[in-house]
Amino acid sequence: MPERIVCLPGDGIGPEVAAEAIRVLESLPLDLEIEIRPFGGAAIDASGEPLPLETLEACRGANAVLLGAVGGPRWDGCDVRPEQGLIDLRRELDVYANLRPARAPGVDLVVVRELVGGLYYGRRGVLDDGTVFDTCEYHPAQVERVARRAFELARRRRGFVLSVDKANVLDTSRMWRRVVTEVAADHPDVEVQHGFVDSVAMRLVTSPGEFDVILTENTFGDILSDVAAAVTGGLGLASSASIGDAGPGIFEPVHGSAPDIAGTGAANPTAMLRSLVLLLEHGLARHDLARSVEYAVEHALASTPTQDLGGTATTAQFGESVLAALAPVGNLR
Ligand code: NAD
Ligand code: IPM
Ligand code: MN
Repeated sequence: MPERIVCLPGDGIGPEVAAEAIRVLESLPLDLEIEIRPFGGAAIDASGEPLPLETLEACRGANAVLLGAVGGPRWDGCDVRPEQGLIDLRRELDVYANLRPARAPGVDLVVVRELVGGLYYGRRGVLDDGTVFDTCEYHPAQVERVARRAFELARRRRGFVLSVDKANVLDTSRMWRRVVTEVAADHPDVEVQHGFVDSVAMRLVTSPGEFDVILTENTFGDILSDVAAAVTGGLGLASSASIGDAGPGIFEPVHGSAPDIAGTGAANPTAMLRSLVLLLEHGLARHDLARSVEYAVEHALASTPTQDLGGTATTAQFGESVLAALAPVGNLR
């Protein structure tokens, strides 16, 4: 049986970086079926909705989903925005643990971001007087399951979890801290600390090397993972894996559709290619191929840097360089 990969290129630079990931994927010695489906703004243009039912069904039936990015100013006035498709897809696949690694010389951390709860999914509305509200809601079971993921991950790393909250102000955060403390008791081999999100944001900028696993809720994780990316080479490098208990994971860059550089060939496909590495690892359990692609991407970063890294390579030239470094693996076919 071939492995089924659904690719959702999306908008802006999404299709540009997805094209390089597909070229690399197709060069690997794997029995694959790759399906490309409309998603985000592209799907709104085609059918009026960001997550068409056929796209969702295809994702449900896949071994893994590889996603570019969605959104852009073109869809600002739409009733349903492209980003809502992504929020719905994450919930439908129940991919509650979003792993966002950030590495650079002297830094090796992973943000474990709760992905299907909190402010993005709570009750929202408009009151008669014009007040608009979004609510941050968490059930303890939602905190427990993502906390378990973070502690299990820390066990295989340097054994240190920093849980990030705003427990000096928010009730959800006080519950978060209590549940994380309970989960920590089941993992005596892992050291746990708690920090407030504002001071952790500062420490991420001033001393990123002191972190191992950073566990946090949805909104804080969104923000902290961009900070972690910024201090380890930028958004062009930052990958992510969104994983649940069963069913396919979603593998996507941390960055968005970058409308400011879309269509110019300036997008760095590394974040997408590193997300492909995570797909090979977590989605297909092909650690051998994951290491090969990872090595080839490192090689391209050193030899063929893109503009965001001070080089001159285009998106496609970077992809060529990765393919060239991979050639010996492809020959195993
Ligand atoms: P962005 O991440 O798209 O871009 C931020 C900055 O980083 C821009 O200057 C951009 O050029 C640069 N950048 C991003 N990726 C890059 C890459 N691979 N190579 C080189 N430079 C890169 O954030 P934004 O501009 O705030 O958002 C644009 C749109 O993307 C919005 O509609 C937003 O909602 C959406 N978005 C989507 C996702 C997603 O689909 N997962 C994630 C974040 C933002
Ligand atoms: C991300 C993005 C998304 C998020 C948006 C586009 C919904 O910023 O994946 O980091 O906030 O989760
Ligand atoms: Mn984000």
